Amino acid sequence: MPIKNRIAEMQEEITAWRRDFHEHPEVMFDVHRTAGVVAAKLREFGCDEVVEGIGQTGVVGVIKGQSTASGRVIALRADMDALPMTEITGLPYASKTKGAMHACGHDGHTAMLLGAAKYFTETRNFDGTVVLLFQPAEEGGAGGLKMVEDGAMDRWNVQEVYGLHNYPGLPVGEFAIRPGALMASADQFEVTVTGKGGHAAEPHQSVDTTLATAQIVVALQSVVARNVQAIRPAVLSITAFHTESDTFNVIPQTARIRGTVRCFDAKTRDLVEARLREMVDLTARSFGATASVDYERGYPPTVNHADQTRYAIEAAEAVGTKVNPETDPVMPAEDFSYMLEARPGAYIFLGNGDTPMCHHPAYDFTDEAAPYGTSFFAELIERRLPR
Ligand code: NI
Repeated sequence: MPIKNRIAEMQEEITAWRRDFHEHPEVMFDVHRTAGVVAAKLREFGCDEVVEGIGQTGVVGVIKGQSTASGRVIALRADMDALPMTEITGLPYASKTKGAMHACGHDGHTAMLLGAAKYFTETRNFDGTVVLLFQPAEEGGAGGLKMVEDGAMDRWNVQEVYGLHNYPGLPVGEFAIRPGALMASADQFEVTVTGKGGHAAEPHQSVDTTLATAQIVVALQSVVARNVQAIRPAVLSITAFHTESDTFNVIPQTARIRGTVRCFDAKTRDLVEARLREMVDLTARSFGATASVDYERGYPPTVNHADQTRYAIEAAEAVGTKVNPETDPVMPAEDFSYMLEARPGAYIFLGNGDTPMCHHPAYDFTDEAAPYGTSFFAELIERRLPR
């Protein structure tokens, strides 16, 4: 039994919502129009409670089942924000906002969860309460954390939480998931190295900041290669290298490098940060320079809980064409991780078909995938909150 019939009937409507969101992308917490549309629809469907302004511009919809005797509460989450980039799709519903684009399919996620809201308010075929979380600022603003801090879990006594993300390259109708870490943590760092500037023809009078910094770049490559246990994946990438000199005959006084660190577990994350700090300091000093490290922790790893992963697999198998229950983890990060730190839950990938990758200017969410995502949410709730 594939996608639910009622949801298949809703495909045109879900597509219209999705394309409207696509045409009007909003970035970070500035998702006022999108959140307004979401809240209005949730009220129109007859949600028992609709609260705006959770996590600044997030929206929460609450739907009670035909019975709530079980006392069980499950949350489903979608992200609403777009990216600060320019779309090149040329589609009739392409972004009307210059410098903003739904290049990660959050327009689709929002429309699919709205479809689920409509289905739940029509059927209420469950015993318990469904809490729908529409969050802002997934792309770098930790809107998911803001919603948790603002009581999205505690206020409605949420017991489990589930989310999904479209996945380019995975055929439409298919799902992929794994227990444990599915996506990486994302930290960023900036290192400022200070040597002693001077005339490039007289390096012995200087401390060559550029050489010291170059050695740091090389030395840092040994952290993952030589300090992290080989069975624990990690990435340390240096993405920027600037000296304050931009000419041919000056040894610069300072230089700056920037980069990112990705890991799947807390221990490796701590190790990489500690080794990075030591290596930067000791390498700089070995050249007579000094260095400061500004290390900023971002999203934690997205770690699926074992039981909830199993429930997600069962629901996906009921509505999808195929489920990969042991997919490879991926290195990008996701702020649903904060929700999974707050409550048991699972995050699943939904096939977007053969499309450009997320964050590509020609990317577009595949509307044919929506009935699978919406049916997944519906099936999951009806299985987890049986009447
Ligand atoms: Ni995304």
